[in-house]
Amino acid sequence: MRLDSLSTLNYRNLAPCTLLFPAGVTGVFGENGAGKTNLLEAAFLALTGLTDVTRLEQLVQQGETEAYVRADLESSGSLSVQEVGLGRGRRQLKVDGVRVRTGDLPRGSAVWIRPEDSELVFGSPSGRRAFLDSLLSRLSARYAEVLSRYERTVSQRNAALRGGEEWAMHVWDESLVRLGTEIMTVRRRALVRLNELAAEANAALGSRKSLTLSLAESTTPEAYAQDLASRRAEELARGSTATGPHRDDLVLTLGDFPASEYASRGEGRTVALALRRAELELLAERFGERPVLLIDDFSAELDPGRRAFLLDLAASVPQAIVTGTERAPGAALTLRAHGGRFTPEVTAEPLPGEPLAEEVRA
Ligand SMILES: Nc1ncnc2c1ncn2[C@@H]1O[C@H](COP(=O)(O)OP(=O)(O)OP(=O)(O)O)[C@@H](O)[C@H]1O
Ligand SMILES: [Mg+2]
Repeated sequence: MRLDSLSTLNYRNLAPCTLLFPAGVTGVFGENGAGKTNLLEAAFLALTGLTDVTRLEQLVQQGETEAYVRADLESSGSLSVQEVGLGRGRRQLKVDGVRVRTGDLPRGSAVWIRPEDSELVFGSPSGRRAFLDSLLSRLSARYAEVLSRYERTVSQRNAALRGGEEWAMHVWDESLVRLGTEIMTVRRRALVRLNELAAEANAALGSRKSLTLSLAESTTPEAYAQDLASRRAEELARGSTATGPHRDDLVLTLGDFPASEYASRGEGRTVALALRRAELELLAERFGERPVLLIDDFSAELDPGRRAFLLDLAASVPQAIVTGTERAPGAALTLRAHGGRFTPEVTAEPLPGEPLAEEVRA
């Protein structure tokens, strides 16, 4: 996968621009608040249609009502244009000018690695569930569909519990068990490969402790219906669904202990990096193409060994964008970020046949 160019308009603090990206590593450096993270966030949004902000308005430049990002992509030799329009809580996606839904965008097109990933390790189970669910949703459109139906069922069932509608529970239970069982089955199956890849990445990071991923399930496919029935009174009293995959955790065991409780900051960051590399490898295996890699703050909190791991990872994909407050070594193109603008630094001669990287202002 290749991002040939990225255009943005009214996106956070970014000046309207079209940036051309060469193959290989593009380094983006600049002071705090220059717009480096915003650039990667815009690239991830244009590549995947995905964002994790709670309100889409946050992405729109203050004082404006709408924002726009566009990616010109190259995938297996064919070109396409993906556009995302944002405004008033709405996200509109187009591929080659035709309206599509998020699930219709190429799902393996980008992986984003950032310092906040440590929260995956140290934060609550919901963050780890979200990591697993979002990865599985990208690997399988069917999983995304079943998950969203399951989540809708949980919230409707909770409303019925709060309304004391005990008589309706057998209907809700039937859907919940059917959808929940499919989710548990896919998670269990995917975890086998994810576990292998994460363990490999953890070893490549030079960690002396082994990393193991496992699911802490609140129930099993076999026991689900029975567990719901036996907790009926408690559920009616609390007005919420007590058991099922929405309550499960992805346990990260480092050495002999859960990383969430015992890992040091640096060990936690290592585990998070291992998870991201596993994500990248899984997407590449599934879609037969290596994603564009977006690495935010490659130098933050990292020792030289882990920095080298990240830079090697960046060199292992057809294209990576790496930000930091200092220059990433070995970049094919270096952009200096300043006040939401990105200016190329002319250094090495371009390779023969490689287009000159340049910035075009809209
Ligand atoms: N909707 C918005 N409208 C205007 N400016 C915004 C908006 N959202 C964020 N910003 C501003 O964008 C600026 C750049 O943020 P960004 O996170 O990209 O910086 P950065 O270069 O990654 O800095 P750091 O090195 O500290 O990580 C911040 O000053 C922030 O206040
Ligand atoms: Mg940043």
